[in-house]
Amino acid sequence: MRTLVIGSSGQLGQDLMRALGDEAVGLTHADIDVTDGVGVSRVLREQQPDWVINTAAFHRVDDCELNPALAFAVNATGAANVARAAAETSAGVVFYSTDYVFGGDGRARHDPHTESSLPDPYNVYGISKLAGERMVMNANPRHLVIRSAGLYGTATSRKGWTFPELMVSKGRGDGRVKVVTDQALSPTYTLDLAETTRVLMERDAHGLFHLTNEGECSWFEFAQATFDIAGIAVNMEPTATVIGERRARRPPYSALASESLAATGVAPLRPWREALEHYLHAKGLIETP
Ligand SMILES: NC(=O)c1ccc[n+]([C@@H]2O[C@H](COP(=O)([O-])OP(=O)(O)OC[C@H]3O[C@@H](n4cnc5c(N)ncnc54)[C@H](OP(=O)(O)O)[C@@H]3O)[C@@H](O)[C@H]2O)c1
Repeated sequence: MRTLVIGSSGQLGQDLMRALGDEAVGLTHADIDVTDGVGVSRVLREQQPDWVINTAAFHRVDDCELNPALAFAVNATGAANVARAAAETSAGVVFYSTDYVFGGDGRARHDPHTESSLPDPYNVYGISKLAGERMVMNANPRHLVIRSAGLYGTATSRKGWTFPELMVSKGRGDGRVKVVTDQALSPTYTLDLAETTRVLMERDAHGLFHLTNEGECSWFEFAQATFDIAGIAVNMEPTATVIGERRARRPPYSALASESLAATGVAPLRPWREALEHYLHAKGLIETP
């Protein structure tokens, strides 16, 4: 199963390279630019892969509001370029989308969005990724469109830190943090996402899948769990999202659950708190007994 991983130096890309082992060929942004359709086709013709995994994205959510053209060039047209070129070489394509295709205003907690829920994106990033999903599905029948959320992994992210890493640093710093209670999601460990992606590819599954660690939490609860597991005493101040404080509106409730995974007979990802504990050990943020 020769697999090209586009964005192989990214947060998820690095865990995909690990999960796929020798069968993976990594391509960085310097090797391929998904916005260049001709270049993408050339690389895929040369490489003749069985699968192409596209992790490339313009995902700085507030910047997408300022530059929708770039958001659509990478997240929608770029996704279509990869899916089409893969179809031309009879390869399957994996595209990662986001929980931000959902909004969730007025939706009660513990009623997560499934693959059959109607998308309702609140910002340009979510709109561009939803367009990307549709374009991938249209361009290549052998597609895996995978929605995930709140990614963190041991690889250094482009932001320079993951949310749990930032919390540990703040907690051990001045011991005070302010975190919002009114945005809930299903945070996901890239190691688990990469492993389940590999399983789906091995089964030659196709379609739309929600792949997140099981369960949901607010960012406040996510921070609280990080401090509990790490044994850090912190003065936590719950806050509310201030509308208009940031350019992009964030969805208040974007927790995901999957109907498609069970239908395919693939095991769900472990609960988010267990994944977080594994991450904190693997990253060396807490001591392993
Ligand atoms: N991060 C999250 O919380 C989250 C949540 C839900 C879904 N997702 C989706 O999951 C996927 C992976 O996210 P991630 O956190 O691993 O992102 P990441 O760490 O930023 O990795 C993305 C990779 O794609 C590369 N890239 C960017 N633009 C490109 C282009 N035009 N052509 C080719 N490569 C390009 C980046 O290279 P450079 O850095 O050198 O530009 C980077 O190596 C994305 O599709 C994202 O939308 C992420």
